[in-house]
Amino acid sequence: MKGLRILVVVGALVTPLIVGLLFTYEIIKVDWISFMEIQPSYRPMEDPLPLPQGSVPVEGPAFVPGVDWPNPVPADEVSLARGKQLYQIYCAVCHGPQGKGDGVMRAYMKASPPKDLTAQDVADKPDAALFATITNGTANMPSFRDLTPRERWDIVNYLRLLQGKLAESESGQ
Ligand code: HEC
Repeated sequence: MKGLRILVVVGALVTPLIVGLLFTYEIIKVDWISFMEIQPSYRPMEDPLPLPQGSVPVEGPAFVPGVDWPNPVPADEVSLARGKQLYQIYCAVCHGPQGKGDGVMRAYMKASPPKDLTAQDVADKPDAALFATITNGTANMPSFRDLTPRERWDIVNYLRLLQGKLAESESGQ
């Protein structure tokens, strides 16, 4: 009888301990709502989550693939002056001072000449598409993602001026 009583007492003490350990070592796992892994997230090698509605990248408004982003920078005098300066620094060597595709580099790029940026098909592209080309580059054109988004939009605005798509009053020059 005494042996049985000891067994019951020991069992009563040890059972909660074992049950506790089962939870501690997650042999029995209950998904509490407070677990950090229960939230929208993605693991390595998985596609990133879709962007939350209306979110803005930390580096400022920019082009997001799949989102038809409007040009957030108005083509005012300041933007066009900045765009012109940046264009002459970064683009004119290939695309030429007026965007005609006749920069000094053209002589060295016979197989894949720089594009005439005043051509109709480029003029017809939306601002975001030009922004994406500047950001990512192309097969024979470097990427300019080191320029800030604002600078890239300034260049887009200046391309519109070269293309004659801005009204005189808007361009201010
Ligand atoms: C090293 C020469 C080079 C420089 C510098 C360069 N580009 Fe280009 N760009 C090209 C070439 C070449 C193409 C034609 C596509 C190709 O062959 O890859 C092109 C294509 C483009 C297009 C695409 C036209 C289309 O058909 O959609 C745009 C827009 C453009 N460039 C804008 C720019 C702007 C803006 C800059 C400056 C920030 C710039 N490029 C700097 C060589 C250059």
